[in-house]
Amino acid sequence: MSGRVTAPSILAKKGRERIVCVTAYDAVTGAIADEAGVDIVLVGDSVGNVMLGYDSTLPVTLDDMLHHTAAVAAVVDRALIVADMPFGSYQASTSAAVESAVELVRVGAQAVKLEGPYTDEIRAIVRAGIPVMGHLGMTPQSIHSFGGHKVQGKSESDSEMLLAAARQVADAGAFSMVLELVPAALAGRVTAEARCPTIGIGAGPECDGQVQVFHDVAGLSPTKYKHAKRYAEGYALFREAIERYASEVRSAEFPTKEHSF
Ligand code: KIV
Repeated sequence: MSGRVTAPSILAKKGRERIVCVTAYDAVTGAIADEAGVDIVLVGDSVGNVMLGYDSTLPVTLDDMLHHTAAVAAVVDRALIVADMPFGSYQASTSAAVESAVELVRVGAQAVKLEGPYTDEIRAIVRAGIPVMGHLGMTPQSIHSFGGHKVQGKSESDSEMLLAAARQVADAGAFSMVLELVPAALAGRVTAEARCPTIGIGAGPECDGQVQVFHDVAGLSPTKYKHAKRYAEGYALFREAIERYASEVRSAEFPTKEHSF
């Protein structure tokens, strides 16, 4: 694997090659994801739930995203770095959206992601030379409107609305779009219609790619989700390491001469 992944190269994978995306929030998770060879590292606003202990993404600020994006950008040198635009950083106006996206690019993002069919904002950011990833379905920044983390697009009218929103986001110039918690058949329809690749999370196997939260894949989350698969039991592994360290300090087994100067 060589050469930097770019937004145009992700677009060109549509119908040819499945796209792999994982979140990362700091230099450690960014380096692991990049070395593992993923196509896209998403500095998600899920940093709020996963790293900062919030119960939603809503408290996450643009300053938080700048801080975490800079840490990821310091180490990721192959995958495309996409930064989430947090709640409140793009909804008020197209100029607010462009200003927020520019700040994220200044700290190392190569593309930004925003939730919902904010087509004027997507167009304005794309016009500024910044690739945009869309995000439809269960968009966590609208949690209060949805009344919880509920699968979206289940009724005929909701699925037609989602299809229309996907057309608008693609027409506005998004180079890819996340579909989150959407019935697999509907995600398949969006994927077949959309000009840009769909990246699913809880949206079935027909999407052009998949995105998962780093901590879910690594088994670092205390919660197990239906849409996620744990490929390791990281939480138990690290807890055991710290327990052994504590035990060896208490029993004077650590440090030895080997660790001393
Ligand atoms: O913030 C995030 O982690 C995301 C993914 C779930 C797509 O937006």
